[in-house]
Amino acid sequence: MNRKTKILLVDDEPEMLSLTSWILDSAGYEVFEASTAAECLESVHEHRPDLVLLDVVLPDLSGLEVCRRIKENPDLGRTFVVLMSGSLVSPSQQALGLDMGGDGYIARPVASAELLARVQSLVRIKRVEDALQNAYSQMEKRVEERTAELAEANEQLQSEIEERKRTEQKLRRSERQLRFLSSQLIRTQEEERKRIALEVHDSIGSTLTAIKFSLEHIVSEAKDAPAVCEALKTPISFTQIAIEESRKIMNDLRPSVLDDLGISATVGWFCRQFQSIHPAIRIERRVEANEEEIPEPLKIVVFRIMQEAFHNISKHSRADLVRVFLTVKDGALRLTIEDNGVGFNVKALRRKEGQIRRLGLTSMKERTELSGGSFTLKSRTGGGTTVEAFWPKV
Ligand SMILES: Nc1ncnc2c1ncn2[C@@H]1O[C@H](COP(=O)(O)OP(=O)(O)OP(=O)(O)O)[C@@H](O)[C@H]1O
Ligand SMILES: [Mg+2]
Repeated sequence: MNRKTKILLVDDEPEMLSLTSWILDSAGYEVFEASTAAECLESVHEHRPDLVLLDVVLPDLSGLEVCRRIKENPDLGRTFVVLMSGSLVSPSQQALGLDMGGDGYIARPVASAELLARVQSLVRIKRVEDALQNAYSQMEKRVEERTAELAEANEQLQSEIEERKRTEQKLRRSERQLRFLSSQLIRTQEEERKRIALEVHDSIGSTLTAIKFSLEHIVSEAKDAPAVCEALKTPISFTQIAIEESRKIMNDLRPSVLDDLGISATVGWFCRQFQSIHPAIRIERRVEANEEEIPEPLKIVVFRIMQEAFHNISKHSRADLVRVFLTVKDGALRLTIEDNGVGFNVKALRRKEGQIRRLGLTSMKERTELSGGSFTLKSRTGGGTTVEAFWPKV
């Protein structure tokens, strides 16, 4: 069983005090006694009773005032106070007592059985109230702890979000830098190729042409010396081969037709060149674009993609038909190159990316995207390959 219920009995009549005290003591309560308001207030602080049975009429202070003081003290506020009056008390006086914070009123004379029944009922109410209060305090404590935990978790989450945002920003910045560097690299490479092509044309190409011209001139001047003419035949044909080789190098570096006649003519020229080297591959070509509709910097991109795609066709596809489309429609430029060759498994190739360094498809994609377009690749084993570069606004 729990501790005994403590009751403080306050009465200035000694007989009444000891009689009531005996009744309560016999019923198993722990009883404390006081006969003045001052003793009562002291005992309440000292013993912390569960219930105070308080006589309304005391020598030093009215019981109602004592009740008010107990109830307004936050430390003692949960003590039950039952006012008792020895005289006949009017209902309005009882109401005043309850207004002062009293929890009940017992009018004397009262039979001991009734007194005990009233006390027991109040003690039960007090116990329930205490239990409720405890549960409430525990709940409040748990809510406080949980709130603190949540606040901490929230703070941690916030700082993680901030950290992630910072990392994302850094990543985006370095991505932009990388794109900028790549485009600079491609531009510089193109400029350098153009410069070397011109150099080859102006120095080696012109010199070779001059040598060939001189040799042919000697031949034409030495008609009556057939031995000399015969001896010069081989150097002339070698010089011709060297001229063609240097022209091929120049065209690979930067086809002059692109700068002289534009992209439509370059597509035609490139297809004819490819056809002459691979006579078994038929090429169908459709160009539906006016030269002025295609911005100058995109022309070299179109050419490089075509060059790389055809290189792949000759190297990997075993195709006998290639279709090239270059069209401008509603302000969008589209380059499509499809073959009917062996094709390949695109997913399997992607899985191997990073293990094997292959540059062709990557550079086509990179060039397209850096110039504001999107690149798609479709291929199926046995089903041919299609590469497409699309620029939505040119
Ligand atoms: N038209 C095609 N037909 C069949 N397979 C192709 C075709 N184009 C590409 N492939 C396949 O895709 C792979 C990757 O092509 P990519 O151009 O990226 O590299 P590569 O040609 O092997 O090497 P690199 O271009 O760097 O010299 C090729 O090895 C080949 O297996
Ligand atoms: Mg390639």
